[in-house]
Amino acid sequence: MANTILVGAQWGDEGKGKIIDVLTEDSDIVVRTQGGNNAGHTVYIGKQKYVLHLVPSGILRSTKKCIIGNGVVIDPVNLVEEIDGLIKLGIKVDGNLFVSETAHLVLPYHRELDAQREILKGKNKIGTTKRGIGPAYGDKAARTGLRMIDLIHPERFAEKLRQKISENNEVLKAFGAKPLSYKKVHNAYRAAGDRLKPFVANTLVILHEASLTQAEILFEGAQGTFLDIDHGTYPFVTSSNTTAGGACTGSGVPPNRMDRVVGVMKAYTTRVGEGPLPTENAEISDLLHGLGREFGATTGRARRCGWFDAVATGQAAIVNGIDELAVTNLDGLDTIETIKVCVGYRDGKARYDYVPNDIEAFARCEPVYEEFPGWMTPTNHARKWRELPAKARTYLRAIAELTGAELKIVSVGPARAETIML
Ligand code: IMP
Repeated sequence: MANTILVGAQWGDEGKGKIIDVLTEDSDIVVRTQGGNNAGHTVYIGKQKYVLHLVPSGILRSTKKCIIGNGVVIDPVNLVEEIDGLIKLGIKVDGNLFVSETAHLVLPYHRELDAQREILKGKNKIGTTKRGIGPAYGDKAARTGLRMIDLIHPERFAEKLRQKISENNEVLKAFGAKPLSYKKVHNAYRAAGDRLKPFVANTLVILHEASLTQAEILFEGAQGTFLDIDHGTYPFVTSSNTTAGGACTGSGVPPNRMDRVVGVMKAYTTRVGEGPLPTENAEISDLLHGLGREFGATTGRARRCGWFDAVATGQAAIVNGIDELAVTNLDGLDTIETIKVCVGYRDGKARYDYVPNDIEAFARCEPVYEEFPGWMTPTNHARKWRELPAKARTYLRAIAELTGAELKIVSVGPARAETIML
């Protein structure tokens, strides 16, 4: 039995969707354990592009079971739209998708508050996806949230929703924003509740019983290590634990049932939203955007791009316990003559080998670079390690060594076939 946790080893958008799809082949169950529809996991099957926000990518293979775990925050209306979209594309969802009874709901006031708080922060904004993620997790921590189990009990839902809307309307009024209509929200979310009821289950029990039959479980991480609420570049983070531990708390599967951790990282670095990114570089950003790459799957925003940061991903390997690495988007570097890798940070006289916890110091940090010769040839035709240019192999070996984990997968394009297994 091999239960695998897959995490993003950078700031999200590492290409996890594709790697999850590849690893799903050897899994029986795929579980999402944190985040919400701020995530956007892209998978190409043939010419068809699928972008999944809440439903685990395993749904694209009809023999796999998928679970949205207790640690995820769910906008029910959004989930219904996603399910209907998948059904339209011929994907089997009924009988394959289970949603935790204890997952918290994202409701319209969360989205409104997310937007209003960002406006109020002005130049100090986080650059959130405005999906209401922070306020929904805030309610969960404050023990005032509504959960899937409430949504499927109409009277309970109506009572709790009425109270939450009247309370949040006071806050929205203070922001100068328009209050919400209880009736409108209730009607839309009740309809979503009816539609979702058949999917709602005690997913802890499903996962426990599956583990008794030696089922192999893949935990699909969303966002990335440095967006983690505890271990990321706070406050420029999301509101969940995106690191490996989140897979346990967000599903109810204990740590001693986990067998390996796979870290996904790009051959360079990207970030969406605000916050420090020491290796950010206009030249590489322009090059990648010019190739039509690095636009967000959820918000369409252009991602900030920079050189590979071995200090940050090395720390990601430590905090997640990464056993194996999957490096994606190698082909994005195919036309670069000299490739830089950050191996340390400098802030005046101070030198850092770890990501400083002082966010202001981190924002001031200058990268210390090592240079590698580029391979200046397309890599997307390579299917085996030895088919990669020698300079690309040297680069990959170096970034894996600097990160401190074993290189296992290299992705040279978005398609399933454009993958090299080591
Ligand atoms: P939130 O999760 O919408 O609150 O956004 C908080 C921060 O996390 C912002 O910088 C977002 O751009 C970033 N973020 C959230 N989800 C993702 C993701 O799936 N990929 C990359 N960045 C994300």
